[in-house]
Amino acid sequence: MSFEIYYFTGTGNSLAVARDIAEKTNGKLIPIPSVMDKESIKTDADNIGIVFPSYMAHLYGIPLIVERFIKKLENIGSKYIFAVCTCGGYECVNALPTLKNLGKLIKSMGGKLSAEYSIRLPMNTLDYSHIPFPIDQNRETMFNSCKKKIEVICRCMTDRKKSKYKIVTSLFNWLMAPMYLILRKFHLGALTKYSKEPKDTNLKYYELMPLTDKSIYADEKCNGCGICEKVCPVQNIEMIENKPVWQHHCEMCLACAEWCPKKAIHHWLRVEEKNYYHPDVKVSDMMGQK
Ligand SMILES: Cc1cc2nc3c(=O)[nH]c(=O)nc-3n(C[C@H](O)[C@H](O)[C@H](O)COP(=O)(O)O)c2cc1C
Ligand code: SF4
Ligand code: SF4
Repeated sequence: MSFEIYYFTGTGNSLAVARDIAEKTNGKLIPIPSVMDKESIKTDADNIGIVFPSYMAHLYGIPLIVERFIKKLENIGSKYIFAVCTCGGYECVNALPTLKNLGKLIKSMGGKLSAEYSIRLPMNTLDYSHIPFPIDQNRETMFNSCKKKIEVICRCMTDRKKSKYKIVTSLFNWLMAPMYLILRKFHLGALTKYSKEPKDTNLKYYELMPLTDKSIYADEKCNGCGICEKVCPVQNIEMIENKPVWQHHCEMCLACAEWCPKKAIHHWLRVEEKNYYHPDVKVSDMMGQK
């Protein structure tokens, strides 16, 4: 039984999870950005895993590059497809809607998402000061429960078990719908503002997202090391006169800002002067993603 584990990552959480799953299943670990220049993606593996972060779960959740990747997959009708969504907030309100959207997308491509899992891990240094309740959790606790969850996931996958969110969680998610509507409006407003489009723009969220790098900049602490350019999974940064210049096809993964050794990059979503990346992932791993 052969496994291919595809992943996309910005701070390394999804890579750490994907790598662990690949080791335990003897699977092949494949970065999604590395296959995106292909017209279509055909695979001989019987089992396909997709490990990715949830982005703006209340808008859509699936990173744009992951959506483009799914749309390139061919002949997936007979495959056992499973997904692991990593998120920083509560899984039931963040990973669940994201995975539901992923299931629909895979179905539209003739496949079936047989098993869906979520893992909560430390959040990128996103500014969540507007959320009126605490979402932080002890990091060690999260890493430990992540390890245990991966054990369970791997056992289920090698038995090709089906796994869906429990009905109670789904019901809770459904009850939260009014709050999602408010969050959706808030997030859309932010995307419009930071992509520097007029307030009454007709652009959709997936058109706005790539433009939001218009509000990213590097300050005088930047020493021109070029790490941001190298870790960007989609070549959205060009070094011009030793300074990063963003090219407006951003995935909003925050890798450039989180991995900048000088904390010189300012991103409107982040708390200043902090950074986070998964402790088991190295900058060279990130550079290898594309
Ligand atoms: C642009 C962006 C939007 C995000 N939106 C959400 C969200 O809506 N809900 C959530 O729980 N986490 C959200 N996160 C946090 C990530 O899902 C989480 O930190 C994830 O584990 C990052 O995985 P990675 O290290 O593989 O990139 C967001 C992160 C980014 C960069
Ligand atoms: S990683 Fe930071 S210090 Fe290095 S070039 Fe980019 S912005 Fe400048
Ligand atoms: S520019 Fe930064 S945030 Fe945008 S895709 Fe590249 S690394 Fe991610």
